[in-house]
Amino acid sequence: MSDRIVTDYQEITRVLADRGMRQALYDEGGVVMDDVLLTLHGDEHRKRRLLEFSILRKEYFAYYEANVFPPALDQVLIPLSSGGGMDLTDFGYRVTINLTADFAGIDRPLKTAAETDRLLHLVKTFSEGATLVHSTRDKEAVRTEVRAALEDLRVNFLATSIERRKAELAAGGNDLPRDILTLLLRDQEKLGLTDEVILREMAFFLQAGSHSTANSTVHALHEIFTHFPNLAARQDLRRDRILVQRCVHESFRLHPASPVAWRRPEGSCPMSGEGRVVLDFAAANRQPSIFGDTADQFDPSRTRPANVAAWGLTFGFGTHMCLGRDLDGGLAPTAETDPATHQYGIVAKLVQTLLSCDVQPDPKHPPVLDANTSRKNFSSYPVTMTPYKGNNA
Ligand code: HEM
Repeated sequence: MSDRIVTDYQEITRVLADRGMRQALYDEGGVVMDDVLLTLHGDEHRKRRLLEFSILRKEYFAYYEANVFPPALDQVLIPLSSGGGMDLTDFGYRVTINLTADFAGIDRPLKTAAETDRLLHLVKTFSEGATLVHSTRDKEAVRTEVRAALEDLRVNFLATSIERRKAELAAGGNDLPRDILTLLLRDQEKLGLTDEVILREMAFFLQAGSHSTANSTVHALHEIFTHFPNLAARQDLRRDRILVQRCVHESFRLHPASPVAWRRPEGSCPMSGEGRVVLDFAAANRQPSIFGDTADQFDPSRTRPANVAAWGLTFGFGTHMCLGRDLDGGLAPTAETDPATHQYGIVAKLVQTLLSCDVQPDPKHPPVLDANTSRKNFSSYPVTMTPYKGNNA
C-alpha cells in the first residue's frame, strides 16, 4: 500500500490529534525506540506522557533557563570561544547534550570535554538507530552498533545515575533530582517498566532534544546573518531581545528539525483501510493560505491566524506534541511582555549570547551543508567572535 502524503496544515493537525493514528516513523528503529514515549500508543502513552509532563513544565523551564542553563553554557562556551572563533554546529551539539542529559537524568560527574564527546558519540549512534528506515548502511550492522552504545550508556553513565537517584528516593527527602530518570525509578513498579525500557527511554531523551536544538540554533543565526547583514545591524538587533526571539520562531518555521512525521491507523480507526500517512510539516509551514504570500521568506514580523503558532508545526501537534517546546521556544511574547523577566527559550538565549559576542560568519571558511542528509543542516559553520567571558562577567 502506498503512502498518503498530506501537505495541508489543517489536515495535518486533524491527523495528529486523532487518537486512532499511531506513530510510524520509528518502526524499523525498535532497537532503540521500542516502548519509548514517542512510539507508545493509547493508554500507555497517556500515562507515561502525564508522568513526564509533571516535570517538563513552564515554571521549571523558566527556572532552568535563568539558573541551571547559564553555568552549563559558560562551561562550554568560555573555552570554545577563547581563541576568537569556533564552529557553530559543534558548539550547538556540545551545549545541548548537557541540556538533554540534565532533563533525562544522566549525570556528568566529570564535566569535561572528553565526557561530552563520549555522550555525543552515543547520541549519534542512537539517532542512526532511531532513523534506521532511512539508513543506506547494512541495517543489522547499525543495530549491532546501537546495542553496543546502549550497553556503554548503561555501564558508564546510567548505572551510577540510577544508584544516586535510588539512594535519594530511599532517603525520602523533598529535594529529589528533577529529571525523567527519577520519575521512572519512582514509578517503575507501578508502570511495569523493565530496566531495558528505562535504558531506551534515556537513550531517546538524550537525542530527542539535541539534534533539533543544535540545528535550530545554527539555522536561526544563519537567517540573522542573511537578513541583518552587517555588524551594526546585528548590534541594533541584539538590543531588542523580543525581536531576536521572533527571528528564532520564524527560523523554526522555515527549518523544522523534523520535516515530516509519519502515522499509521490503528485497526479500529476509521482510516484503518489506509496505509501510512506522511505529514509534511516543512510544506505546511510554508502554506500561503496560512502564512501569507511571502510564506517562503524570512519575516519575523509576519501576521498569521490566531490559532497558528509562529513556528507552525515545527514542534508537532496533538497527541505527541513536543514536551520540550516551551523549553527551547520559550513563551510567545505579547504586548504586555516584560523583556527583563521574559522566558525567551534556550535557542533564543543561545542566539542572544552569541550576538552579544559580535558573532559573524568566518569570511575565510564558509559554512558547509551536511551531505549525508536531505535535511539541509550545516555540518560545519565557522564563525569569528569576541571571546565569551561568562554570564557573570
Ligand atoms: C528546536 C527543538 C525541538 C524541536 C523542533 C522538536 C520537535 C519535536 C517534534 C516535531 C515532536 C513530535 C514528533 C511526532 O509527532 O512524531 C517532538 C516530540 C518530543 N520532543 Fe521535541 N523538539 C525539540 C526539542 C526538544 C527538547 C529540548 C526536548 C526535551 C528536553 C524534547 C522532547 C520531546 C519529547 C519527550 C517528545 C515526545 C512527546 C510524545 O511522544 O508524547 N524536544 N519534538
